[in-house]
Amino acid sequence: MEDLERFRGMIKERIGLGVHATYQGNIPYHVYNWFYYKEAFSRNLVLEVIKDFGLEKGIVLDPFCGSGTTLLACKELGISSIGFDIQPSAVNASNAKVLDYDVPEVRKILKDILSKDVKDAGISENSFAKKAFSEYSWRQLSFYMAEIDMLPSNLSPFFRLALTRAAIRASSCFRDGAVIKFGKRKQANVKRLFRMEAGRMLKGYRIFGKISKGGYCKAFFGSSLRMPLKSGTIDAVITSPPYVNQDDYLTAYAVENLMAGKNIAKDFMESKAYGPELKGLPVPEACLKYFSLILESLREIFRVCRRGAKVAIVMGNGHVEKRVVESDVIAALLAEKAGFSARGIYVLNRRFALVGRTRKAGVLRESLVLLEKG
Ligand SMILES: C[S@@+](CC[C@H](N)C(=O)[O-])C[C@H]1O[C@@H](n2cnc3c(N)ncnc32)[C@H](O)[C@@H]1O
Repeated sequence: MEDLERFRGMIKERIGLGVHATYQGNIPYHVYNWFYYKEAFSRNLVLEVIKDFGLEKGIVLDPFCGSGTTLLACKELGISSIGFDIQPSAVNASNAKVLDYDVPEVRKILKDILSKDVKDAGISENSFAKKAFSEYSWRQLSFYMAEIDMLPSNLSPFFRLALTRAAIRASSCFRDGAVIKFGKRKQANVKRLFRMEAGRMLKGYRIFGKISKGGYCKAFFGSSLRMPLKSGTIDAVITSPPYVNQDDYLTAYAVENLMAGKNIAKDFMESKAYGPELKGLPVPEACLKYFSLILESLREIFRVCRRGAKVAIVMGNGHVEKRVVESDVIAALLAEKAGFSARGIYVLNRRFALVGRTRKAGVLRESLVLLEKG
């Protein structure tokens, strides 16, 4: 496809922002660090993009909001934002981070919940929970889950996230790459862990509250392919879809999604077969469906953007069937098919595609693709 050469010509280095394309950059920041999300980008990347866009007000959209980094950075700056994600735990974490709290009220509710005698909540363990938790821990977890379900929606995300953090510590699971493995079940005192995690979060909230300007920010459980938003209403988009060979994120968050108590929405990968627009794309057959979904999302993003809206998308290249898949330049090409003008491709990170553990088979870029609805 000769067009790709034009987009390759737009590639420029911006390596200084590399660490901010990952979750690592969020670790020092209160509230941003409430939910470990391996796929996240960081606060400073969002702040940098907002500065580049010259955005001071309006509505920012993140159609793949994950753990809510874009939404929280917008809240810090006093800009409104909306996010969508198909992972219930990610949506819950995003909302827990962006809601406003009355700290003494939260402390009182926590005290009330913890003062209750743990009873059987009648939530039976599924096969995953049976492997992840001892009966002792599950009895407490399910009791607190039922208590949290009765809280109003402006408070439940906070408590659910605190309990999720406790559940992660109480579980026997650990991640080995993309796979969840189980160790010995622990007789963990969930009550103590829940109190500790909620306390830590409140401490972080107090510090973040001093710098945050506030604003309407909310994450919704739903797909970027069909967003319940009016056409032409969004001023900017800052986002990062799943990467091309990254289809493991749904299983990797099994404990988190169990605690969020909802089923995962229709998967990103479950959609139409690819259309003729993708004919000739220089990628293995196995990637065509992924790119047809990227195109479908870009069309939906184009619809909801106003004229002049700016879009920043973090895309990671992949290594599939021994070929380097240039997702960044392909995204720029597909964005133009969706109606956008590509404004630049900035490389944030480069790493080697490895065959086995050591043989270098090419270079993979992680890039910021900038677009505009002209
Ligand atoms: C790379 S992560 C985004 C991380 C986010 N930038 C952050 O800082 O946490 C991509 C996200 O897209 C979500 N996702 C996948 N398919 C989706 C879809 N069709 N609609 C909305 N979100 C989707 C995944 O659940 C995942 O949270």
